[in-house]
Amino acid sequence: MRALWLSLVLGLTGCNLVKGPPRDHECRARLRSIIALETTFYAQHRRYSVHPAEVGFAPQPGNRYLYLFSREGPLTRRDELPSPPLRTSVGYGPDTRTRGVVLEELLTGLPPSVRDTLGLEGTCPDCELTVACVGNADQDPTLDVWSISTRDRPEGVRGTPVHHVNDLANEPPPPEVPDCTLATPLVEGVPGSPGHLLPSVRNPNGDSELAALMRRFVADWEAARQTMEQEGHLAPRFPSHRQLRCAWPTTASDRDQTYDGLAINYLAAVKAFDASPSRRTYDAVVDGCRACHEVTCGGPLQVIEALRWK
Ligand code: HEC
Repeated sequence: MRALWLSLVLGLTGCNLVKGPPRDHECRARLRSIIALETTFYAQHRRYSVHPAEVGFAPQPGNRYLYLFSREGPLTRRDELPSPPLRTSVGYGPDTRTRGVVLEELLTGLPPSVRDTLGLEGTCPDCELTVACVGNADQDPTLDVWSISTRDRPEGVRGTPVHHVNDLANEPPPPEVPDCTLATPLVEGVPGSPGHLLPSVRNPNGDSELAALMRRFVADWEAARQTMEQEGHLAPRFPSHRQLRCAWPTTASDRDQTYDGLAINYLAAVKAFDASPSRRTYDAVVDGCRACHEVTCGGPLQVIEALRWK
């Protein structure tokens, strides 16, 4: 049932989950073609070029990654802002319109230790070139960074992409719902929606999707506290709890701006807990429950207070 429901939501919002080759494939494949173009260029001119246009490189539209041929210099943008003349450009920014990420975001996330190795080294023909790509392969703030070089490096021989920062390592599983905000339309007729309440032992009328989610919250935080007391490993809560912003309440009109603002605050506390589980971040989560319930419905406040770390 859940799979069916998910496919309905995905179909309606037109969002795509990861499909096709792994996302960092773009970066590695492009770096290899850059090195091939540079090698051909060197054979003709006895030098490498830090200008993609000069060697005939341009990433295809829709590129997720930033391509950098030099530590410094102007970059070609793929957003509304003006770009330098192609012959002076030393790289390409990501396609902001399709990827929703701006050049500066990627540029500032590039570790200085990698940036320092980029561009030309030596005086051509006795020279080497190193090129990097930087992107955000998922939704967290960590970036994915690769580089390729015409010289042998400790991490890999010439022409092999080296992975400096892996955005996809040790990541929590991708969230089950690709987009979940106040703007996400709720799908009529799904279990827990008005007229289709879930069978419940507690409530003779049945449970809404949101009420069932709340039950999960209580169970999740009770379990979190126990696991932490035993110093065990905790799975992140955010991927499932984010559903708070797009679950059917019993009364559809309860899902308004005020509710959503309180949901955002709660989810921020959950993210902080996931990043660093502690007594302090745990209690901040419970504060988030309380803040919303003081406004929406006071009934569960006792259950919420019982979750406090004593
Ligand atoms: C953004 C607002 C919001 C936050 C944050 C929130 N709740 Fe709720 N909660 C609600 C609403 C609204 C309902 C009523 C659900 C419905 O309409 O069916 C509810 C219902 C409940 C219920 C009753 C469920 C039932 O069986 O009917 C419990 C228990 C509960 N919440 C506990 C919690 C706990 C624990 C947290 C924090 C971990 C929390 N809530 C965070 C808004 C919130």
